[in-house]
Amino acid sequence: MACSEDEIRRGVVSLRELGVEILGVPGKGYRLAGRFDALDQNKLRALLKPHSPAVMIEVVDEIASTNDYLLSHAESFASGRACIAEIQTAGRGRRGRSWFAAPGASLAFSMLWRFERELDFLSGLSLAAGVAVARVLHELGAREVRLKWPNDVLYRQHKLAGILVETQGGNRSCVAVVGIGINLTLPPAVRGRIDQAVTDLAAAVPTIPGRNVLASLLLRELASVLGEFARGGFSALREEWSSLHAYQGRAVRLRGSGDEGALGRVLGVAADGALLLDTGAGEQRFYSGEISLRAA
Ligand code: BTN
Repeated sequence: MACSEDEIRRGVVSLRELGVEILGVPGKGYRLAGRFDALDQNKLRALLKPHSPAVMIEVVDEIASTNDYLLSHAESFASGRACIAEIQTAGRGRRGRSWFAAPGASLAFSMLWRFERELDFLSGLSLAAGVAVARVLHELGAREVRLKWPNDVLYRQHKLAGILVETQGGNRSCVAVVGIGINLTLPPAVRGRIDQAVTDLAAAVPTIPGRNVLASLLLRELASVLGEFARGGFSALREEWSSLHAYQGRAVRLRGSGDEGALGRVLGVAADGALLLDTGAGEQRFYSGEISLRAA
């Protein structure tokens, strides 16, 4: 397909805005500053097939949100259906925030899973998904990766990955879509645009595997954890989650849990994924909100 110079220029501007480094080559045009490690559906399927035959991955170049896509097909898609995108134009984070993923320098994917249980059973599912991500990153050598309740993945207290779990309930069966975004190599321009302490996998491991290999490892582990969860709920994963807990025993402030939030010391997490805080009025359970550290 032929493109006019103007169209090419506009394309370069939008890719640069997304954090893709493109150099101008005098007299010739443009070139990528580095190698673009593209997602490849055939490669990913081949990597997944021997270990996770139930996972059916679809690779898309551009989509609004992989979570939205799977949720909109929740009635028809089978358990294990997954979608990974090079570009999300309306990626979503927790609590109404947007999620920005730099093309070629991050992974953004979602997986749908069906449970023959009532919706309440899914309490703690987002914590379980964190265990899957932490297992893979630890295997790669990122031993300092920890989990922040309910589902941030941290490396040295900076956010490395985020998880968004969305559910739909029916009569004795429900569906969850687990969306994961992970920063691999954050371009400086993108880092400056994110309003929280963030980091990337490049800071945490000596070598980052190719994006297809990494995505297959994460999808594989996620499917395995979702299977574990379907059998035993969060309680089967609670001990492991607790061993990864970034804020265990720390003094924190919890916001967005209704009322004015709460101050307390973190006691741990319950078998249903609730955060246990000693607020001074004894042990209290919280099911939503966002915690931040307080000076001791
Ligand atoms: C958060 O930490 O706020 C959660 C971020 C979740 C981002 C992922 S990227 C893939 C999937 N699709 C979305 O729109 N969001 C999740």
